[in-house]
Amino acid sequence: MSNPTIVSGKEVANKVKEEIALAVKQLKKNGGKIPHLAAILVGNDGASQTYVNAKVKACEKVGFESTLVQLDANITEQELLIEVEKLNNNNAIDGYIVQLPLPKHIDEQKVTEAIDPKKDVDGFHPVSLGKMLLDLPSFLPATPYGITEMLKHYNIPTEGKHCVVIGRSHIVGSPMSVLMARNTYPGNCTVTITHSRTQNLKAITLQADILIVAIGKPEFVTADMVKEGATVIDVGIHRVEDNSKKSGFSLLGDVKFDEVAPKCAFISPVPGGVGPMTIASLLKNTLLAVQLK
Ligand code: GUN
Repeated sequence: MSNPTIVSGKEVANKVKEEIALAVKQLKKNGGKIPHLAAILVGNDGASQTYVNAKVKACEKVGFESTLVQLDANITEQELLIEVEKLNNNNAIDGYIVQLPLPKHIDEQKVTEAIDPKKDVDGFHPVSLGKMLLDLPSFLPATPYGITEMLKHYNIPTEGKHCVVIGRSHIVGSPMSVLMARNTYPGNCTVTITHSRTQNLKAITLQADILIVAIGKPEFVTADMVKEGATVIDVGIHRVEDNSKKSGFSLLGDVKFDEVAPKCAFISPVPGGVGPMTIASLLKNTLLAVQLK
């Protein structure tokens, strides 16, 4: 194989956003509630600021209302829990997220569990994750949800395929493995989840019909780890210094794209792959929150 189909999350996300914008127009016309997404951002981590700004901008683009709650890095856990409670009780807000990671002195799990599951558009609350396991309607975690939408858009076959997931994070790897094993399309895969203690990783990735990489290491997956004709989905995004770029950095994924791509049937790029889909899925979940009210 030398001409893979590029799985353009950017294109799929634009289509999803157009559909959402249309739904918002319809809501407005019918005098319905305009979806309102809020985001809590604690501290001034550069990457988190970039992500949250992109989420707010996406809200504007589809006609949602948005609120950004910016809090000092030194806020106490108790003070943050009060802010969460305020959003739980604010009827104007349909859904909200608390951008992760939080400063080390704050227990992320405690904060996540304080979010009203009806407003948990990130799908990180134990109630949302439990419903996902049980195939009940729920908010699916945005990144894995976005990946399933990409697979669907490109009609990538999944039934009976071997899907290997690299990484077991609560946000991506773990829920991704659940979604790929579900009895639906995309799904019905035989799933292997691999992680830092996995032995002979390459022997496993070489068996993957679908390889989903969320390990958080730049260019970790090389051509010798990938089977001819595989579908490779790259969840990683890393800023690395690059003086040839005006910005001073370039963006790399977890996959060494240039050497892996020629072996693939389908491959998602970085940037323009999974990233835009994560935001589109968050918007979809927020619209769902309004519809479920
Ligand atoms: N940090 C990295 N990805 C995410 C995400 O999808 N949601 C939130 N809240 N924080 C993140």
